[in-house]
Amino acid sequence: AVRERVESLLAEMTVAEKAGQLTQYFYMGFMRDQAKDGAPSQPEMVEAAMTRSGVGSLLFLMDPAEINRLQRMTIEGNRLGIPALVGFDVIHGFRTVLPVPLAMAASWDPAVIEQGQAVAGREARAVGIHWAFSPMVDIARDPRWGRIIEGAGEDPYLGGKVAAAQVRGFQGSDLSSPDNVIAGPKHFAGYGAALGGRDYDESNISDAELWNIYFPPFKAAIDAGAANIMSAYMDLNGVPAAGNRWLLTEVLRDSLGFEGFVVSDAQAVHDLFTHHFAADLADAGARALNAGNDMEMTFVDPAFDHLVAAVEDGRVSIETLDTSVRRVLTAKVRLGLFENPYVDEARAAEVLVDPAHRQVAKTAAQRSAVLLRNEGELLPLAADELSSVAVIGPLADSPRDTLGPWIFDYDLAETVTILDGIKARAGEGIDVQYAPGIRPAFRTFPSMFDAWPNNTPEDPADFDDDAELAKAVELARASDVAVLVAGEWQNMIGEGASRSSLELPGRQLELIQAVVATGTPVVLLVMNGRPLDLRWPAENVPAILDIWYPGSQGGKAVAALLFGDDSPGGKLPFTWPRTGGQVPIIYNYTRSHKPNDQWRRYWDEESTPLYAFGHGLSYGSFSYSAPTLSSESIAVGETLTVSVTVANEGSRAADEVVQLYIHQRYGTSSRPVRELKGFQRVPVEAGASATVEFTLGPDELSYWSAVTRDWVQDATTFDLGVGGDSSVELSSRF
Ligand code: IFM
Repeated sequence: AVRERVESLLAEMTVAEKAGQLTQYFYMGFMRDQAKDGAPSQPEMVEAAMTRSGVGSLLFLMDPAEINRLQRMTIEGNRLGIPALVGFDVIHGFRTVLPVPLAMAASWDPAVIEQGQAVAGREARAVGIHWAFSPMVDIARDPRWGRIIEGAGEDPYLGGKVAAAQVRGFQGSDLSSPDNVIAGPKHFAGYGAALGGRDYDESNISDAELWNIYFPPFKAAIDAGAANIMSAYMDLNGVPAAGNRWLLTEVLRDSLGFEGFVVSDAQAVHDLFTHHFAADLADAGARALNAGNDMEMTFVDPAFDHLVAAVEDGRVSIETLDTSVRRVLTAKVRLGLFENPYVDEARAAEVLVDPAHRQVAKTAAQRSAVLLRNEGELLPLAADELSSVAVIGPLADSPRDTLGPWIFDYDLAETVTILDGIKARAGEGIDVQYAPGIRPAFRTFPSMFDAWPNNTPEDPADFDDDAELAKAVELARASDVAVLVAGEWQNMIGEGASRSSLELPGRQLELIQAVVATGTPVVLLVMNGRPLDLRWPAENVPAILDIWYPGSQGGKAVAALLFGDDSPGGKLPFTWPRTGGQVPIIYNYTRSHKPNDQWRRYWDEESTPLYAFGHGLSYGSFSYSAPTLSSESIAVGETLTVSVTVANEGSRAADEVVQLYIHQRYGTSSRPVRELKGFQRVPVEAGASATVEFTLGPDELSYWSAVTRDWVQDATTFDLGVGGDSSVELSSRF
């Protein structure tokens, strides 16, 4: 029925109407008053396009009344009454804000990730958004790149599981449900490898890395049913992604089996011209469409407006145009937009305040925190032995930073900060005092999101830096324990927010050092979306808990972890470098001349990371049995079962993320020193144990070889280890 509906519409459409369906416009309502010299404003231009030949899609809208108004205008404006797809960046929640995506990945918990995106999708669809530009599944191996925060870190296996869980959460089983939205995994492909970590710069990636590292999370998202893919902004190996036929057709469709529609990133089709690839805007439009980029995302003046002429002069065939239009119309039909184009505003208001959504956000924040260090078991804090707690650092009391970047429809008033959460959990008997210690705003450069309300932190003119630092130190000295929150302000990370250094910004290290010098036990909470230079704290601060940007319920979740109502159980989804000069540093590197354990790579720093990929402690204490393998060796194509028992020898219940790593000893290509090939997060009561089983077969043991230029599985020997992080000994063999 979907097909018939699409074909009958297509048969009625003019070429101009078809081109209209392939354009997606930002609708910047706030620019209505900014028109200059009698020219129409940005929203007026979009409205004109709606009534000219229709528009395929609109983005950057979040108010249900406004969405209904524009949807009506779209439907009434085009001859065939085709509704618009409404898309938006629903990255880590909508009204209910979840922890940032990198944090969600640190939960290593696909179920909680799926639930989180189901909540985000439900809220978005309730206001009239049909399509989330999410998940970002770009592998990020360089933490200078600000968008590392939006992905699942460095590893293709973990990245694939996280990507699939997000697609399932957004899309559910039926796109026409009022609770589901289309997922748009992005940015295809290689955006995370931007040169020098500088956002938008070119990526140069070998084919083997593309197939083995960068494509697998997209493949997992496609296999989970993703209905859309966003192509990347940048140039990949000398060809811009949005005009790259090999990438968008041969790889994406022919090899990875994608059947949905591809949208460009913002202005990326224009960029084909500005990047000296296309001759002009018309050439850009034709080459993007011919490459397999079905829809153009743009602010004004679409390159796809030139498709009518391109069809006339033969640069684009009508079959190619029809194929793209078919894909877009299919999405609209599957969403049920022809039957239900409008939303019920009263229902939207109710969905946005559903308390069950807040509970999901709290659980997610709890499960994503990573305990990096806990010397002398300072954590959990013993509430009955404490009479005072000093909470220090401006990030402790900042609702906006608690939420993190890339959110738009949030409610600061209901955001629980770390200070709020600790105060509420500590209760009457414990005196909780707060001192910022350093100024509550840190800015080194303007952020591209400064125009949005509440995104610009105030820099108080009358802040006496030295006096405030001294006050915080005195407060720590007078308290039983100091909880210090340090990290990056949320506008220092995200799109357009790369950094050349991983140092703690401002005077934060000085503040940490002065507070530690008081002798009061210190818990450091790190608020971040990338690894930071924690070399000094890692040696000198007894307890370090990475809380990321934990979202609207962050303070509650973090307080529950601090006081031991629950145990941290997250694990790092990336290798944590000692210093920015080490990046990129990854756990699954390929061994080379004079490997690390024999020879130091840097004259002035260790070659090893500060914390291994997969590292994370808990309030339990885990020991592992030797893995049991179902057979001593397997032939190509066969499968093997691995089982291991993990025992909690501690006195508290906790979760452990059991991780399986393999190493292929020899083969057609050289192979990485180790690769993650299985994980399971399991809860284990104190004194109890759990047995975990993994299966290894062709999916886990094959790889793309630059020798055969194809997938291979070698008849060879593998080492295997199962443990709590990527430093586990690989002592089994098959
Ligand atoms: O979805 C985003 C993308 O990730 C970066 N450029 C803008 C798009 C729409 O906001």
